[in-house]
Amino acid sequence: MGDGDDSLDGVDWAALQGAAVGVMRHAYAPYSSFPVGAAGLVDDGRVVVGCNVENAAYGVALCAECGMVSQLHSTGGGRLVAVVCVGGDGGLLMPCGRCRQLLWENGGPVCRVLTPEGVLPMSAVLPQAFGSDDLDAAARHPARPTSGGGPSSS
Ligand code: THU
Repeated sequence: MGDGDDSLDGVDWAALQGAAVGVMRHAYAPYSSFPVGAAGLVDDGRVVVGCNVENAAYGVALCAECGMVSQLHSTGGGRLVAVVCVGGDGGLLMPCGRCRQLLWENGGPVCRVLTPEGVLPMSAVLPQAFGSDDLDAAARHPARPTSGGGPSSS
């Protein structure tokens, strides 16, 4: 058994994938014909889900993970501890780059993702991620203006 076995890490990965498949069926993807579902286990035991919602203005499509993160906050917040994303065939799908950033914000490095290579922590899914720590560090050590680095103050 690999790390994806639900008995090893306390996460019922099969149930989470089932929730992702269920919400994927509600996707609104008339332009790509590529429905996506995402399901996340929250640290209080809730399961939050989302599907992609496209738009005639292609660039403003909402990824499934966006909907899932919105539901996370609209139902009480908390931290994502495990996430599964699926495509139209119900198979595992890796989150796009932007959505990896969303998962990082709401689950951090220890949030686990079920991937085609098994269960991986977000620290492996989005290595050397930019996050709130970087903003905190910048606030502690404000950058000094450098020559040529912006509008002149004179
Ligand atoms: N999509 C997601 O919902 N999540 C991802 O992580 C990858 C891409 C959606 C966006 C668009 O509606 C469709 O898949 C095709 O890119």
